[in-house]
Amino acid sequence: MLSDDVLRFVLGALPSPPARVLEVGAGEGALAAALGDAGYDVLAIDPAGEGRVAAIALNDVDEPAGSFDAAVAVVSLHHVEPLDTSLANLARVVRPGGVLAVDELDVWALDERAVGWWIERRKELGEHAPDDPTELIDEMRGHIHPINRIYALLEESFELSPPARGSYLHRWHLDLDLRESEEALIASGELPQVGVRFSGRRRG
Ligand SMILES: C[S@@+](CC[C@H](N)C(=O)[O-])C[C@H]1O[C@@H](n2cnc3c(N)ncnc32)[C@H](O)[C@@H]1O
Repeated sequence: MLSDDVLRFVLGALPSPPARVLEVGAGEGALAAALGDAGYDVLAIDPAGEGRVAAIALNDVDEPAGSFDAAVAVVSLHHVEPLDTSLANLARVVRPGGVLAVDELDVWALDERAVGWWIERRKELGEHAPDDPTELIDEMRGHIHPINRIYALLEESFELSPPARGSYLHRWHLDLDLRESEEALIASGELPQVGVRFSGRRRG
């Protein structure tokens, strides 16, 4: 499900339409559809893509160099393999001066408080959740690219804003209506900020 907050962030970072936009890791294509409705010409990709989302991995995108005015990735770059060459391919297809908008999670901020809160909310919703937060933390840290590495690699080709931290847990197979509770607990220091966002412009 597409969060209003994610759509606002992406629309705030993108140039005005018309513009050609690459969406990396588009999932079921909800954001791509909203961007299409807003007047953008979107190529949405995802190895698991169907329908309007092309079934292709970032590393295999063979569009011409500089052929996109912007690229957007919502909680997808932490999955891409191989990370270095995939991000180099992303930089290749965005034109100089083109925009990048990234929404991510910081797996190193995902601590026992965060996962404990997430597990409780999952159980309240009647969904499956592990009993031991540490197992889930270890599993996540074992297979997700750290945000610092993603940021450092992108910084080689993009002039980036500093990472802005915020909420994320409510979007992780929970309920978007839990955003307010998560943000209140962040404000009172009871939960860490697991979400990270930044945007930037292609150098060159
Ligand atoms: C957590 S999901 C996010 C999906 C969507 N952006 C959203 O916000 O609902 C991460 C997505 O990244 C995709 N992904 C994994 N490896 C990828 C790659 N190499 N290139 C592009 N997308 C990839 C996955 O298939 C998955 O759909």
